[in-house]
Amino acid sequence: MPVGLQITPSILNADFAALGAEVARIPNADWVHVDVMDNHFVPNLTFGPTMVEALSRSTTLPLDAHLMIDDVDRCAADYVEAGAGSVTFHIEAAKAPIRLAREIRHAGARASMALKPATPIEPYEDLLPELDMILLMTVEPGFGGQRFLDLVLPKVRRAREAVERHGLETWVQVDGGVSLETIGRCAEAGADVFVAGSAVYSAADPDAMVVALRERAEEAVAGSGA
Ligand code: DX5
Ligand code: ZN
Repeated sequence: MPVGLQITPSILNADFAALGAEVARIPNADWVHVDVMDNHFVPNLTFGPTMVEALSRSTTLPLDAHLMIDDVDRCAADYVEAGAGSVTFHIEAAKAPIRLAREIRHAGARASMALKPATPIEPYEDLLPELDMILLMTVEPGFGGQRFLDLVLPKVRRAREAVERHGLETWVQVDGGVSLETIGRCAEAGADVFVAGSAVYSAADPDAMVVALRERAEEAVAGSGA
């Protein structure tokens, strides 16, 4: 069943010393996006399953774990166990993506595959039935606050077309540089799940920004007739 457009704020730019309180500031979010980085797949280091478990105890919002780690085949299930409702692996890191997606689903979470900006979707189209979401990075992964890459938008469109061609309900998520200025273009191109980090946590009222982002995306879809 379609759930409509969803906003998943990233806590990467929130105050790490007060994450429970930071998550409590965004009650209107659909998910909390947790960026897991290992300092190998990306040149930045954040948190692991222990932190995800602590977060899942501190909020009723579901957690959307975005794993930017090399050893994802071995570690993804730990994040399901830690309480994540959705677990995203990068196709550039996964050694056996079909086995991995099945393992995530079997463990009880939604399985999602992420693509860096320069990774094409076409070679992976046949994997779509194994996935609940595809994440198209709209910046190079690693850091919040980077500039949105418009060059990814045609891929968002092709991903949406592929999902429809296969008759699936796979969500299409965009992540990186999503703001009031860019979210409309993402929604028009066919994204339905939007990660926003600095746009939300640099706003004076993060929850009002969540609501404003969702409204802006809905207006764009209505305007484009999509
Ligand atoms: C980047 C992360 C993003 C990041 C988004 O590697 O995957 O989730 O936190 O932050 P903004 O919205 O600031 O680009
Ligand atoms: Zn992310």
